[in-house]
Amino acid sequence: MTTLRTCVFPCAGFGTRFFPATKVIPKEMLPLVDKPILQYGIEEALGSGMDKLIVVLSKGKDAILDHFDRTSELERSLQERKKNDLLDEVETVSRMADIISVRQKEALGLGHAVLQAKDAVGCEPFAVVLPDDVILADEPCLLQMRHVFEETGRPVVALMEVLPEETSRYGIVGGNMLGNRRFHVTDMVEKPKVNPPSCYAIIGRYILPPEIFPLLEKTERGAGGEIQLTDALRELVRTGDFYGYVFEGKRYDAGEKLGYLKATVDYALRHPTLGEEFRAHLEALIGGEEQHGQTLRHPRRA
Ligand code: UTP
Repeated sequence: MTTLRTCVFPCAGFGTRFFPATKVIPKEMLPLVDKPILQYGIEEALGSGMDKLIVVLSKGKDAILDHFDRTSELERSLQERKKNDLLDEVETVSRMADIISVRQKEALGLGHAVLQAKDAVGCEPFAVVLPDDVILADEPCLLQMRHVFEETGRPVVALMEVLPEETSRYGIVGGNMLGNRRFHVTDMVEKPKVNPPSCYAIIGRYILPPEIFPLLEKTERGAGGEIQLTDALRELVRTGDFYGYVFEGKRYDAGEKLGYLKATVDYALRHPTLGEEFRAHLEALIGGEEQHGQTLRHPRRA
C-alpha cells in the first residue's frame, strides 16, 4: 500500500458565516488564543505523519502562506534585541512545514476545491482537513483515522454522533456500526430533512484514494450550485468498502461565531501559561454575575 503522506487543506471559501470579520481576513487566519485556526490543522497533519501539505487558496488569502514563510527582517530584529523566546516561536512556525499552494479561481464548492489539488497530490492516497473543524484530542484525529486506513487500505471519514434533531445540519452516513468505533458506510445523505439513515455525521476529516478525482471531474453542481464533495463520495462508496471512524475528541465548528467562541474558551482554559489566570477570570465573572445579576450584564458607562 502507498504511504499516506499528503494532506490537502481547502481554504478558498468566502467564510460568510463569520462576516464582517472575514471580509478581508481569511477565516483560517483568525486566532484561536495565540495561533491561527489553520495552524491547529497543520499541526494535526504533521502529528499524524504527513509531510506533503497542500493548501487550496483563493484571491486575498496569501496571508496564509506568509504565516508559514520565513520573516527575515522580524527574525533579525528579534535577534538583535535578544528576544530569544519570541524568536523561537517565530522560527518554529516558519520551519514547521513547506507548503504547496494551489489556486481555486472561483468558489465552486468543496468538491471543486479538492479537485484543484489533483496534480499536486498525484496518484497517491491523501487526507483532507477542513481547517475550521478544529478537533481537540489526545491522539490527533487524523492519526486515529490513519490506523483504520492502514488496516483496511480503504477510504475513511471522521464521524461524530449527533442528536436526532441535529442531523439535518450535517452529511449523515448510512450503513452499520462494526464496533471498535468503526462504521461500514454504504450510503450518505447531505442534510436529511426526514428519516436520517443514522445519527453519525461526517466531520471535516477524510482519507481518500486518488480515484476520487475522476469522480469529482464528473460531479455536476449540486446543492447550492456547488460541486459537492459528498456527491463524489457517494459514488466512491459504490466502488467498494468505505469506512467511518467515530473519533475520540471534541470538535468545534470554528467557522461560525458561537463555535469559535466555544473553541476559544476551551483552548484558553488548557493553555499552559494563560489557562490558570483565564479560569480565575471566568470564575470571578460568573460568580460576580450571580451576585450582581444585572450589574454585570449591563455595566454602567464610566
Ligand atoms: P465552508 O462552507 O465551511 O466554508 O466550507 P465557507 O464557504 O468558507 O464558509 P461559509 O459557509 O461561507 O461561512 C468548508 C471548507 O471548504 C472550503 C472552505 O474554505 C472551508 O475550509 N471551501 C469551500 C473551498 O475551499 N472552496 C469553496 O468553493 C468552498
